[in-house]
Amino acid sequence: MKRWMTSSHWVALLFAVIFALVSVGSVSDVRADGPDKAALLKHAGKAVFTKARCGSCHSVNALDLKRSASDDEEEEDEGTPPPDLSDVGTKGHDAQVISDYLTKKGKLNGKNHKKKFKGSDEDLKALAEWITSLKFPAAK
Ligand code: HEC
Repeated sequence: MKRWMTSSHWVALLFAVIFALVSVGSVSDVRADGPDKAALLKHAGKAVFTKARCGSCHSVNALDLKRSASDDEEEEDEGTPPPDLSDVGTKGHDAQVISDYLTKKGKLNGKNHKKKFKGSDEDLKALAEWITSLKFPAAK
């Protein structure tokens, strides 16, 4: 029987498979360089994060949003310190769970959030959507 594929064909096929796997990887949200940072900084949810002063407790290091604790804000003197939110989107919580958590209608990891979100439903929706798209490596 005639060999219908030479070894160079196999090498080409192997590369094609590797290439396909790599491309599939880049379609998923977690890439080496993370999701589109510029888009996330322009996202309506980011504006809500700023407006609602989430940044007085939380940083989003991946987007260079530093925590801006100030004297008029409650400090976390007891309990869990506010986590950096860079990787919340990788934890598989859906936007509804996040919305409920932020408005204290529901818990996350069995705990209530420290602060109740008091903005509009529209803002909450944008915020929760933004939070769930933060898929960067966590800051350490
Ligand atoms: C007064 C400080 C404070 C403010 C303000 C605050 N948070 Fe938090 N947040 C916390 C603390 C503390 C935790 C950790 C709770 C725990 O796990 O016990 C937390 C947890 C979270 C989590 C869960 C993170 C995870 O990976 O489990 C999210 C999401 C979150 N906050 C989003 C927000 C958003 C959005 C805002 C603004 C609307 C906000 N937070 C405002 C203190 C704060």
